[in-house]
Amino acid sequence: MSKINVTVNGRPVAVDAGSTILDAANKAQVRIPTLCHIEGLEPTGSCRVCSVEVEGRKTLVPSCAEPATDGMKIRTNTPRVLLARKQMIQLMLANHPDDCLYCMRAGDCDLQQMAEDAGIRERAWRRGEHRSHPVDRSSPSVVRDPEKCILCGKCVRVCDEVQGVAAIDHAGRGFDSFVLPAFDDELASTTCVNCGQCVAICPTGALVERSDLSRVWRYLADDALVTVVQTAPAVRAALAHVYGMSGGDAEARMVTALREMGFAQVFDTQYAADLTIMEEGTELLHRIQEGGPLPLITSCSPGWIKFAEHFYPDSLENLSTCKSPQQMLGAMVKNYWAEQMDVPAENIRVVAVMPCTAKKFEAERPEMETEGGRDVDAVITTRELIRAFGEMSMDFEVLEPGEFDRFLGASSGAGAIFGATGGVAEAALRTVFYLLTGENPGPEDFEAVRGLEGVKEIELTLPDGAVVRGAVIHGLGNARRVMDRVASGETDYAFIEIMACPGGCVGGGGQPYGADLQRTAELAGELYEIDEKRVLRFSHENPEIQKAYEDYLESPLSDRSHALLHTQYRGRSQFSAEDEASE
Ligand code: FES
Repeated sequence: MSKINVTVNGRPVAVDAGSTILDAANKAQVRIPTLCHIEGLEPTGSCRVCSVEVEGRKTLVPSCAEPATDGMKIRTNTPRVLLARKQMIQLMLANHPDDCLYCMRAGDCDLQQMAEDAGIRERAWRRGEHRSHPVDRSSPSVVRDPEKCILCGKCVRVCDEVQGVAAIDHAGRGFDSFVLPAFDDELASTTCVNCGQCVAICPTGALVERSDLSRVWRYLADDALVTVVQTAPAVRAALAHVYGMSGGDAEARMVTALREMGFAQVFDTQYAADLTIMEEGTELLHRIQEGGPLPLITSCSPGWIKFAEHFYPDSLENLSTCKSPQQMLGAMVKNYWAEQMDVPAENIRVVAVMPCTAKKFEAERPEMETEGGRDVDAVITTRELIRAFGEMSMDFEVLEPGEFDRFLGASSGAGAIFGATGGVAEAALRTVFYLLTGENPGPEDFEAVRGLEGVKEIELTLPDGAVVRGAVIHGLGNARRVMDRVASGETDYAFIEIMACPGGCVGGGGQPYGADLQRTAELAGELYEIDEKRVLRFSHENPEIQKAYEDYLESPLSDRSHALLHTQYRGRSQFSAEDEASE
């Protein structure tokens, strides 16, 4: 690719032809603030806070949308630029509710930070009439407060262009502009899949997760209850990033932190990931041997499940009947653990700490119940967990390392990598290979499914020489493209792993703000490192899983396994959350 030469604030830099001014500034290590810009998507140039001066041009130009040209001289910090930026932010603030003290984004808000950086210390215009719209609390996952929206459009574009859902869009004109679901319906009655990618990218408190932290504190304060917790692999990876330590160190300190919060037992969702592999790997072999239905498609991502219910109801028979690890662990606690420990199931509350807002929706699904009651009683995200540490004034870095409780706490490295795209397929193939040959493969034999390519393919040769093909997909936009080919019979995949969020659970909508592909790759790296350091690398070798089958479940796909660990789904309307069968 040909290069062009520009200067940014006097610093010479060479960039590829076609680069934007913002790209050139990044290369020159000059920071330009942005609000509506999304790396990797076409610019819209709607917020204008990234405007800069270009020698020879009369007007300021939005650096995220303006191509750099050879010889261009760019200035990002002239008094004219700073004044214009300040005015842009002041215009946004003119219509903002100003309830920052009570906002969930307080102290972690892009708009607040930008106003502070710009030196805004007073309201520029007298407060007059301002837009009003009720807060939408209908969704189990996402709270929408349109009055805090600055109309940057990032949520609309992520929902449509990345996730292929398009549950929200711009509506109204001028003063009455809002971002809304169609017909101003409540979010819960739309095709929203609860993935929370809109929440992760929103620069203000207009879209936040529904917080269940108060409910968790209430459980913990109730002496009549036995409140236990489980944590997903991607949570420890995010904590490692936030607190600047390895995934293994973060895991050990997280266990101690959860005990300090008051949980009676600290279990590992990775245990249930190993259990999922036993059930799903066996299910795959059965389907291959018994003629389908194939491809078998993974079912541990609740955002993907709801997407399939809305847009691919004819493919629901292809979904694995396995519940997700979150739900499996809850069902095991309320039945197996309750029986072993002689604790009445009705006194147990299971809290899950997840990187994912859709897990809140999943926990409330009517399908997720057994004789022991609801599998999971409350779900908090990684962000909510970090807020809980803040409420406790906890210094995470100085905590002593702790260990998960036994029975439901041991896990293999295969369980750890569940949190990254490709991890479920890789973990499953390790065990499927063993089930077919009686021998373990090399733990890294299937690492071709690692990495952030949107769609990856892999092959497994069976003992009879037959080749089984599979695909690994992350991001629902990518899932839509592949599922259209599956639906039209263009593929011969035997299995497909689909994760709703870009990068898999490590890129989930409940992870700390500021996600980008580089951070997602780093978090996946933490999980691969945890896997590498584990003595146990295979789900079928987890001694607690073996014991659960010996003492309680009997075998994968047994009647008891089916009753506790499996479920089924029904189609929904393409236009609303309605259950198709009930229309
Ligand atoms: Fe460039 Fe909004 S970030 S116009």
